[in-house]
Amino acid sequence: MTQPAHIGLIGLGTMGAMLALNIAEKGFPIAVWNRTISVTHGFKAEAGSLAPMITPTETLADLVAAIKPPRAIILMVPAGQAVDDQIEALRPLMDRDDLIIDAGNALFHDTNRRAAEAAKLGPHFLGIGVSGGEEGARHGPAIMGGGERADWDRVAPVLNAIAAKYKGTPCADYMGPAGAGHFVKAVHNGIEYADMQMIAEVYGVMRDGLGMAADAVAQTLKSWNAGPLQSYLIEISGEVSAAIDTHSGKPMLDMILDRAGQKGTGRWTVIEAQHLAATIPAIESAVMARNLSSRLDERRAGEAVFGAAPTGKSGLTLAQLEQAMIAGKILCYAQGFALISAASKEFGWPMPLPEIARVWREGCIIRSSMLNDMATALTDDPTRNLMLAPFFADHLKGSQSALRAVVADAAMNGIAVPALSSGLAWFDSMRTARGTANMIQAQRDFFGAHGFERVDGLADKHGPWAGHGI
Ligand code: 6PG
Repeated sequence: MTQPAHIGLIGLGTMGAMLALNIAEKGFPIAVWNRTISVTHGFKAEAGSLAPMITPTETLADLVAAIKPPRAIILMVPAGQAVDDQIEALRPLMDRDDLIIDAGNALFHDTNRRAAEAAKLGPHFLGIGVSGGEEGARHGPAIMGGGERADWDRVAPVLNAIAAKYKGTPCADYMGPAGAGHFVKAVHNGIEYADMQMIAEVYGVMRDGLGMAADAVAQTLKSWNAGPLQSYLIEISGEVSAAIDTHSGKPMLDMILDRAGQKGTGRWTVIEAQHLAATIPAIESAVMARNLSSRLDERRAGEAVFGAAPTGKSGLTLAQLEQAMIAGKILCYAQGFALISAASKEFGWPMPLPEIARVWREGCIIRSSMLNDMATALTDDPTRNLMLAPFFADHLKGSQSALRAVVADAAMNGIAVPALSSGLAWFDSMRTARGTANMIQAQRDFFGAHGFERVDGLADKHGPWAGHGI
């Protein structure tokens, strides 16, 4: 054994291996274990100058013995049953005061259950959301922690050290009890889905509506990345648009089947939003669009019957597309933060909205220059919907007409822009003081005598049609 480890890690898949190297590099000796022993030894063998910081272990008992008590062990195993199995296997080997940290993409309900079990049976348990992919895990992810505050504080020095930094501030923070960290990570992923989908929609308008080639799309996205849309997702979308396929010599994008995969975190976010009656239509549309993308045969059948949309018929400008994307992005983040707010109230978790925006400024997939302004707006008033914060309200006043133009033009030309259009419908609903639910209430009262509230405050809850219902 090299030296007593400060922390342990189980699961040397891509993310686990990168996280372990990151921890070692920040000066924390780490003991590692993987189900396949050869992977563990191979990991140490390839760790180069970091190898002396790494203790490979062959059994879970060896792993536990290699760590200085009170111990902390990070799990980087697939979400679901594997996490429960690993906890069960570790429990008899660890002390009650030790700590297990699940750093996978767990469903937050599972994290709630595991935290409750840990409180009864030990060891302590933290659920942390980690974002940033392979590169982030190796050089600085964003980290969203959930569990007991004291447990977070215990490992915060390691987590802060390995996290991405925004102007020196670690993008890691405590989000609240039990599953709060994994809940915030799920909302992060929901926003990620919506942001990706809106970029894909704008790409669709450029490709089909404006007849632009991939390299022209790449140039446009590159120029947007120097303005208010500056973000990791716009940056990589520009890069993928510019890439050339080595097999065909054609733009890589043109060679990729339009059928997208998903691991389920976006879907979880949407399901939870429905439970909370939170309104996140841009995120819902993005999940819908992914589901629909996989129905390739049906889409082909649809095109055979109804014909393909005409190409090159759009009258939009690139400036309008950029403005529409700005409006759409603000609306999708506003929906995500409103969902966290609703969950805070419902679960009794005081999840810190400004800190969440701060943690998302670097390291994670949805990092963007707008998040710093969001952190400021949420600090001013965490209870106000983000779209009403003066800075973003001004942006929306300036960009909403472009969003309308893009949605209308796309509709006229048969180009699907579900996230942008549902974002716009949400915006219009949110800015309409007198909507049309009076009609819904009248219908409900007619067929079911459900009653309604009157605008003049009179107590009569039923219409003159009383008794006419079924
Ligand atoms: C991140 C990502 C990461 C991953 C998800 C999404 O924050 O680093 O969100 O967690 O990309 O698994 O994957 P799907 O698109 O497959 O749902």
